[in-house]
Amino acid sequence: MTGTSRDMHNNICVVTGAARGLGRCISETLAQAGAARVYACDIDMAPADAWLSEYDNVTAVPLDVCDSEALSRLSARILAEHGRLDVLVNNAGITRDALLDKMTEADWDQVLNVNLKGVFLMTQAMLPLMKLNQSGSIVSISSIVGTDGNIGQSNYGASKGGVISMTKGWAKELARGGAQIRANCIAPGFINTEMTQAVPERVLEKMIARIPLGHLGDPADIAEGVLFLASQRARYITGQVLKIDGGLVL
Ligand SMILES: NC(=O)c1ccc[n+]([C@@H]2O[C@H](COP(=O)([O-])OP(=O)(O)OC[C@H]3O[C@@H](n4cnc5c(N)ncnc54)[C@H](O)[C@@H]3O)[C@@H](O)[C@H]2O)c1
Repeated sequence: MTGTSRDMHNNICVVTGAARGLGRCISETLAQAGAARVYACDIDMAPADAWLSEYDNVTAVPLDVCDSEALSRLSARILAEHGRLDVLVNNAGITRDALLDKMTEADWDQVLNVNLKGVFLMTQAMLPLMKLNQSGSIVSISSIVGTDGNIGQSNYGASKGGVISMTKGWAKELARGGAQIRANCIAPGFINTEMTQAVPERVLEKMIARIPLGHLGDPADIAEGVLFLASQRARYITGQVLKIDGGLVL
């Protein structure tokens, strides 16, 4: 158990890419921190069978973040069930890595579609639910690749950099008229999930050798950052990028 506080007391939360990896850990952490309801959304909810039944405050929502109609249905459902949304965590993301001269247009389109357009569409769909109370916290999971780039990740880096600039714009736009709607990013380094387990062993060893703290991060390290930014403890923080990377990018 990571979130021992009651920082999410009574909050209504949406997490995307929630079935496994970071999204699962984030959803569990928000639920354990007292959220009234966590809508755990994923295009493939099957991996959530392993943990969902442990929580009576988490609802599984099979959903593609690129499907505008599904997002509208979710918004209408949350409006009917709770009349507001307090926390949105844009976590769903994919990789289709290739060197620049090998990357296909399909690789580019798929990654930009899910990682950037999906964040835009989801936030646009959920925003009216935050505007009802003129408050809320949007936390989007970017990456250090979005700030510093990486070999073979033109598409991924562009998508994650786009999430950061979009977030900074939202921080200004969504606070107009005295609204307390905040938008922040987390930029994880190398965290131990299926996404990093797909990296070849020798590449992974080289990556770890570059991390000052000497090991991969744990999903809980990211979830704790999300919990903080989502909570009222971070009520004066907006438009920021919190790097959680063991000191990799300084
Ligand atoms: N693991 C890392 O080291 C790392 C580092 C930096 C950033 N990130 C970012 O953190 C986020 C989570 O990464 P992870 O390692 O847990 O990945 P993961 O592959 O383990 O999980 C991603 C989840 O997103 C879901 N998903 C994919 N496309 C979707 C769509 N169109 N609609 C809804 N759900 C969809 C998948 O089904 C999966 O459950 C991603 O945005 C990733 O880019 C991860």
